[in-house]
Amino acid sequence: MDLTRLGHTCVVGLHWGDEGKGKIVDLLTEHFDLVVRYNGGGNAGHTVQIAGEKFALHLLPVGVLSPNKMAAIGTGVALDLPRMLEEIQALGARGIHVGDSLRISDRAQLVMPYHKRQDQLSEAALGNAKIGTTARGIGPCYADKMLRSTALRAGDLLRPDEFREKLTRIVELKNRLFAALYDDREPMDASAMADEYLACGERVRGNICDTTRLLLDSIAGGKRLLFEGANGTLLDIDHGTFPYVTSSTTSAIGVPAGAGVPASTLQSCVGVLKAYTTRVGAGPFPSELRDEIGDTIRERGHEYGTTTGRPRRCGWFDAVAARYSAALSGITHLAVMHLDTLAGFERIGICTGYTTPEGPLSGFVADCSLLERATPVFEFLPGWDEDLRQVRSFEELPARTRQYLDRIEALVGVPVAIASVGPDRTQTLIRSI
Ligand code: GDP
Ligand code: IMO
Ligand code: MG
Repeated sequence: MDLTRLGHTCVVGLHWGDEGKGKIVDLLTEHFDLVVRYNGGGNAGHTVQIAGEKFALHLLPVGVLSPNKMAAIGTGVALDLPRMLEEIQALGARGIHVGDSLRISDRAQLVMPYHKRQDQLSEAALGNAKIGTTARGIGPCYADKMLRSTALRAGDLLRPDEFREKLTRIVELKNRLFAALYDDREPMDASAMADEYLACGERVRGNICDTTRLLLDSIAGGKRLLFEGANGTLLDIDHGTFPYVTSSTTSAIGVPAGAGVPASTLQSCVGVLKAYTTRVGAGPFPSELRDEIGDTIRERGHEYGTTTGRPRRCGWFDAVAARYSAALSGITHLAVMHLDTLAGFERIGICTGYTTPEGPLSGFVADCSLLERATPVFEFLPGWDEDLRQVRSFEELPARTRQYLDRIEALVGVPVAIASVGPDRTQTLIRSI
């Protein structure tokens, strides 16, 4: 793949998150001028490893790790400002200074402490029916956005008196709501909350701007834009395994709305997948392996959440789901990660279909309970024993690994342009397609 010919592009996950988007965004950043987050918030955890040094970013676009690049947080992001400031501080302590290069949309919704509390209270009240959220306040924040009257945006911080007044009204409402719904009677203090957030707002006053205009001007000025998707396509609020999803548009179709660019902006789209499939939290996962093989993948792949530390559920590669996600986003290039993790299995499964007691499914469907009851149809390919971590080109890959990639390519219907054989930036193979 000629990375300079991607045009404006986006990087999205094609399964249930944690596919390795952070690594791919970092790899591509040098060919772009501006890296933009357009969805999600502190629920995301994007890991980058550069020369053995590991970074995990939750709110900041991965582009902040590369010198002389601009990074933007778009209107579609649920912005946990204190947490983002902590991230900036932690990077500063490691010699990476995020200054003027970061722009924050004045339209981005603020995640407030009551959103996180509501997330926890709501999950606790659901008991066994819980979604298994990251407890980062994502659902309640986006719910308030849609409700409008109880929403606060980054731009509101620039008008302190108005912000304080609005927050006081909202907190009073939330106190009553939590007491009535969850019997939670410990009132939150609006004044202290306003002090904290306005102090945070002052620290980023110079970074908050109209990013919609910035992006449109950047496109007009010939700058190259890279959109960093958070979460995964199957966690999409509309097109994922509802209700076991997150609350934003996670696929490439979220880019125009979440960033504020015309629908025709994207010239390519990179879909990221692991060589197997994982999921955190509740919800259907037809190709899940609740056995020794699943445990082996988890241990070898270090499959524990970047944001919550929870063990990830592991299964064979779900090609049905990947094909659905790739079609939805109009994926032009695939990146297949963690090939190194699969070394040593005698045979490797790929889920090529689903059956249910009512008969086979034609593909990925909206009905979550049907997906819960679906059993996977597996096809098996021979595994490989070679340690791939030192491999640096497609040609060097063992024949069986290449055969595996060819099969993924055929089943998903998109060429594999990138393969990954370890967490480090250098452990990446790029193929001309
Ligand atoms: P993201 O949310 O999509 O950015 O993915 P995460 O960062 O949450 O999870 C991916 C994990 O896999 C991180 O710990 C990465 O460092 C790691 N990783 C990425 N690619 C590879 C790979 O090819 N091999 C191995 N062993 N680890 C990888
Ligand atoms: P990245 O960007 C993996 C999952 C949660 C839960 C559901 C809803 O690192 O790939 P939420 O807190 O968003 O309301 O949780 O979505 N989830 C993720 N899983 N990676 C993510 O982000 C995720 N973001 C949300 O585990 O099942
Ligand atoms: Mg992650």
